[in-house]
Amino acid sequence: MAKETIINKIASPMIKLETSYLGLTLKSPLIVASSGLTNSVEKIRKFEELGAGAVVLKSLFEEQINYEAGMLLENGLYPEAHDYITGYSKTHSVEEYLKLIEEAKKAVTIPVIASINCMSANEWVTFARDIEKAGADALELNIFFVASDKEQSSEQYEKLYHDLIVKVKQVTQIPLAAKIGYYFTNLAGMVNNLYFRGVKGVVLFNRFYEPDIDIEKMKLTTSGVFSSPADIRQSLRWVGIISDRVKNIDIAASTGIHDGKAVIKQILAGAKAVQICSVLYKKGEEHLKVIAGELESWMSRKGFNSIEAFRGKLNYHKIPDPSVYERTQFMRYFSSYR
Ligand SMILES: Cc1cc2nc3c(=O)[nH]c(=O)nc-3n(C[C@H](O)[C@H](O)[C@H](O)COP(=O)(O)O)c2cc1C
Repeated sequence: MAKETIINKIASPMIKLETSYLGLTLKSPLIVASSGLTNSVEKIRKFEELGAGAVVLKSLFEEQINYEAGMLLENGLYPEAHDYITGYSKTHSVEEYLKLIEEAKKAVTIPVIASINCMSANEWVTFARDIEKAGADALELNIFFVASDKEQSSEQYEKLYHDLIVKVKQVTQIPLAAKIGYYFTNLAGMVNNLYFRGVKGVVLFNRFYEPDIDIEKMKLTTSGVFSSPADIRQSLRWVGIISDRVKNIDIAASTGIHDGKAVIKQILAGAKAVQICSVLYKKGEEHLKVIAGELESWMSRKGFNSIEAFRGKLNYHKIPDPSVYERTQFMRYFSSYR
């Protein structure tokens, strides 16, 4: 080893990746996002060995919980949904989910965050209590509505989120995170309202199933399920803004985080943690270690020995020209680009 490298190694302070998220201490800001990657104890144990700070379990669906509680039919479920839920529940039963939480908690020391896909504050909500009893460290609510009803106001749609959070808060003590999209007129106001209703953290953003069109077959298809590194940008903008505007809420950045650089950017913008999914499907679970290594070597190079030492250094409040976060038109580039 070259003399200079040895000196650098000795001189560089011990790097700690520890962070806090939803009031939990995470040994690393790298969280494995809700997906099939976390649907068994073996997989969760492997991610702990690879250095994950926490895992978010694959989501249960609100409809599934209601169905198993015998509530859905009375509520007038349409037949295709009924078939789908019956089939899905055979392999992903609510009981199995609770067992997964219990067993994962015994098997690992990292936080295990449960997840529910939900759209309403109806009967399923009481199930949050079972999740808490099973030992989950926190609950992530994956909430999304396509606000496409022209008779409804934005406030009416936003109220659905608020009612849901309030109801879940009434039955659980564990920390709540809301995983949301970016389709809001005033996202900062929305997140602030979630915070005041008791949400400790937000996941910015979920990646949604999106339509595409096959022009040869002339029919609707779905776009690819995995993100690309360029997909980080929406999230980066809003992490930078929200971490300043809603100071006490914890942000986990999500979508398009494929390497150490993306993690560093999100933490500089103010994220407390990041959630990673697509790249682990594409490159394998071991890639988590590569990402952690890139983060550590950058921290060492820049002389930061903790996440808090650089977190938020480039958020909206800290940069000389915050309008960069709000600028949407490429005026400078459009006028000179050839
Ligand atoms: C195969 C697959 C399954 C997923 N399942 C869920 C899920 O059950 N619940 C959820 O909240 N998000 C789910 N997601 C979304 C991811 O948790 C994540 O938010 C999204 O993929 C963006 O992160 P990425 O760019 O790192 O993939 C899934 C994503 C993929 C690719």
